[in-house]
Amino acid sequence: MSKQREHWGSRFGFILAAAGSAVGLGNIWKFPYITGENGGGLFVLIYLFCIAIVGIPIMIAEIIIGRSSQKSPVGAFAALAGKNSNWKYVGWLGVFSGFIILSYYSVVAGWALNYTFMSLSNFFDGKSPDEIGSIFGVMYGASGINLFWHAVFMMLVIGVVIAGVKSGIEKWNRILMPILILIFVVLAIISIFLSGWGDAVQFVFYPHFDALKPSGVLEALGHAFFTLSLGMGAMLTYGSYLKKSANVPKAAMLISVLDTGVALLACMVMFPIIFTYGYSPEAGPGLVFKTLPIIFSEIGDFGMFISFVFFLLLVFAALSSAVSLLEVVTSYFIDEKGWSRHKATLITGGAIFLFGIPSALAGSSALFPEWEGMYGKNFFDTFDYLASNWMLPLGGLFIAIYAGWVMDPALRKAEFTSGSKLTQSNIYIGWLFFLKFIAPVAVFLIILQRVGLIDIDALLR
Ligand code: PFF
Repeated sequence: MSKQREHWGSRFGFILAAAGSAVGLGNIWKFPYITGENGGGLFVLIYLFCIAIVGIPIMIAEIIIGRSSQKSPVGAFAALAGKNSNWKYVGWLGVFSGFIILSYYSVVAGWALNYTFMSLSNFFDGKSPDEIGSIFGVMYGASGINLFWHAVFMMLVIGVVIAGVKSGIEKWNRILMPILILIFVVLAIISIFLSGWGDAVQFVFYPHFDALKPSGVLEALGHAFFTLSLGMGAMLTYGSYLKKSANVPKAAMLISVLDTGVALLACMVMFPIIFTYGYSPEAGPGLVFKTLPIIFSEIGDFGMFISFVFFLLLVFAALSSAVSLLEVVTSYFIDEKGWSRHKATLITGGAIFLFGIPSALAGSSALFPEWEGMYGKNFFDTFDYLASNWMLPLGGLFIAIYAGWVMDPALRKAEFTSGSKLTQSNIYIGWLFFLKFIAPVAVFLIILQRVGLIDIDALLR
């Protein structure tokens, strides 16, 4: 394969694309509701801590592995550790995780598409809060509607990925990311004028020590992985399209700050509304879909517009993340099997759509009605649980161990410092310490808690 590897058009293009991957449903849909469930301030503080001590070090490691090998996950480990080494299974785990996560991520993104479309018809007009909330349940159980929007979303993702690294992923992120941040800033400014703003600031930023269970610490750490797109080689793959002149630690820092900024902005849009209208911050996964339209309906005529913009934004954010999930799967077939981008994208995207069908039908139990009875969770929740609680932390653990303990030290240092004017040796030593010790131990603890071998709540009680 002597084909020249595609590269980002500019360093800024890489940062936008990587930030686009990080900022997604995890920030806007998930972070506010888990913050609500975990009592706010202290959870937010711990999450910020996890981003800094585990997330950023592992993100630097992923980008470095990708850039030094110029390969997607499977090829990267084969190239660096040797063709016959077992490390390539970490790459395989990543490809597999991307496949599984996108299959249900697309279903949630489909809900956002559905709500964007519903906003056009002012669906909440003249309805009581209970009626508006119940629309989510109606949609969740509607097989055809879920399938339709899942298909539409997968077509959008395939369309972007097919166009390639520079003209597809980079171009779209260049347009979508700045719009996304701008709209959020505007919404957050509008929220300042709501009477519940003070309570929201208090809730999100003031640590309430009795509101957080110790296991919330582990939830914060797990979410740090998901939200920064770590543990499955998405950042590794994006790093493989990066030229040597880029400063990786600085890029990782910027991406993480952007991602965290959007998550906090999302809270500062949602919580003022929740407190102003006296709703509970603990509304759970339905928070965005059930609660916000109730508030939009009370804003008057302008509410329809805000609702449309908000859900469109959610779709944009989901799209740029979904693109990175598909890219991990697709690039395996391009790099390792020599497929054309066209063929690889269509076949893998089509297969992910098919695998997502039972997730799209999970709410109606139209397919595998016995699934929940047999496995304890419906199809959608089973794979969400497997991917976020097992595959990403395991992948992250192996990536940290590889980059910290196994990778050629000279190559690692050269990659860390390349593109920077300073030698950065103190920063390098600090990074290595976090990568070798702090990150693996922290992730290992999550895994032990998930397996049930330790119960942090009981230990600290
Ligand atoms: N970071 C994305 C979000 O917060 O929605 C989800 C995600 C994308 C996870 C890409 C993992 C990944 F590789």
